[in-house]
Order: sequence, then C-alpha cells, then structure tokens
Amino acid sequence: MGPDALRVAGLHDALTGLGHHVTDLGNLSPLPVADRCDMPAHIHAPAQTVGWTQAIANTAQSIAVGDLPIFLGGDHSLSLGSVTGMASHAAAQGKPQFVLWLDAHSDFHTPSSSTSGNLHGTPLAYATGKFGFSGFPPVPNPIPEDHICILGLRSVDAAERDMLQASGIRRHDMRDIDETGIARPLAAFLDTVAQANGALHVSFDVDFLDPGFAPAVGTTVPGGATIREAHLVMEMICDSGLMSSLDLVELNPFLDERGRTAQVMVDLVASALGRRVFDRQTQAFG
Ligand code: ARG
Ligand code: MN
Ligand code: MN
Ligand code: MN
Repeated sequence: MGPDALRVAGLHDALTGLGHHVTDLGNLSPLPVADRCDMPAHIHAPAQTVGWTQAIANTAQSIAVGDLPIFLGGDHSLSLGSVTGMASHAAAQGKPQFVLWLDAHSDFHTPSSSTSGNLHGTPLAYATGKFGFSGFPPVPNPIPEDHICILGLRSVDAAERDMLQASGIRRHDMRDIDETGIARPLAAFLDTVAQANGALHVSFDVDFLDPGFAPAVGTTVPGGATIREAHLVMEMICDSGLMSSLDLVELNPFLDERGRTAQVMVDLVASALGRRVFDRQTQAFG
C-alpha cells in the first residue's frame, strides 16, 4: 500500500513540476524461490524476501546510467535489494558506493541476531557483506563500513549496538543532532562522498521523522527529526548533486491520518530534487 499512497499523494506530478522526466515502472514482483529457506525459524517471510531481494537488485542494476531510481516501499527489507543492486551499478561505472541511512533504527541485525524476526531490521548488515546471511544471494559489491552514515538513531537493540560499535559506520543519534544541528554531520559525510567521487544511495525510513509529523509507520519512536530538519537534509542532498538513488520505505497508509504522512514524504522528495523558495546564489524565486 505504501507505493500507492505515495502515488496518490502526487509524487509523479511533484517531480514533473520540477522539470524532471518521471517513469513509473509499476509494482515489481518477487522472483520465485524455493519455499524452504536456510534461515533461523523465527524469521518472517524468508523465501519471499529472498525473491524480492533478487528482483529489486536486478532492477537496480538495470537502471540506465544517469537515471535516478526511487524505490517505493513497503518494508525496509526492500533495501536488501536496492542497496546491493545500486552498489553493483556503481561498481560497473568504477564508482565507490556510499549510503546515507535516515532512520530511528540502525537496521544492523543479522537473521540470527534479530529477536523480532523482521528482516526490515537487517539491510545495513547485509549490505556490508560481512555477516552470515545464509539463504540470501551473495553480495558482489559490499559497502565498506566507512561509506555508511546513519542519521536519526534513537532505537538500537543490544546485539546491534555491539556490532555497530565494532564497525566503522558513522552514526549520529538524536543527541548528536540536538547538540550540533543536523547540518554538521551531514555536511561532513557529503564532503567525504564528494572527495571520493562516489555514488550516494539515500535510504529514507518514515520513522526517521518524529511520529507527531509522520504517524503512518508501524515502528514509531518519539523524539525524531522535525519537518524542518528533514527538509534541510533533503535540500543539502540536492545542493550536493551527489544522490544517485533513493528509497522511501515503511510508509503504512493504513496508519495515516488523512494522508498527511504520504504528503510530507512527497514534499521532502521534492526538496531533495530541487524545490526551493529562493535560489541561494541568485536570490531569485526558484
Ligand atoms: N531493531 C528492531 C528489529 O529488528 C526494529 C527494526 C525497525 N526497522 C525498520 N526498518 N522499521 O525488529
Ligand atoms: Mn517494516
Ligand atoms: Mn526505522
Ligand atoms: Mn528502517
């Protein structure tokens, strides 16, 4: 339902209104895989998720160079496919892949460390290629840990904390954001991506936002980013010119209030793709 809610909220028209040419590839289907999957028994929908991962990774790899795919979800487990597929896409152009993870959660579980059994809690660990994900496709182009930055953290499980602490992933919790503002850690990361001439995948989980502005997500955590912080993030990403792919995930319109979360997400994507009040260089309306 998430992709359709984003469509109904006007994603296509918001982007064409900014001068972009938009093609909706429609809803993908998972590739068929064997029912039995070599995964711990408490994992939900293992075979289906493997099928989705393959389908999404294949689609990501087939995107024309210079096009900017937006992966609409749906569950954050879609990033098992989008991140690894875009990493292969970047590798084919000789570019290093970077990932900006906007999320209340670190999604750094393995299937065996996950206590909930929800694979939406695992895509970042999978993308690093460092952990056991038996039953899943191999990761041909793993993302180096120091090419990943998480912003917005406020819910990290014990097992994830240990693995994150042992990793080189850049991570900024809400306290960091309160103390320094959100611009500082983001600018530092964007600078790293620019220096490396990297491709930047942005994975935007609705629960990055405070539930007061964005109630339509199953895993709300109070104390999240404000609309203003999120727009600033999107505008800085746009100004950097670095974003090459985007996930919009975890929108559950069944939990929305008159579509307002879907509308906020569409407005934020518009900021990431060029909507402005003023052009900051010329001071012209833009
Ligand atoms: N850490 C929790 C779990 O593994 C929550 C993950 C939430 N992630 C998400 N993409 N909504 O179940
Ligand atoms: Mn989910
Ligand atoms: Mn989350
Ligand atoms: Mn997430």
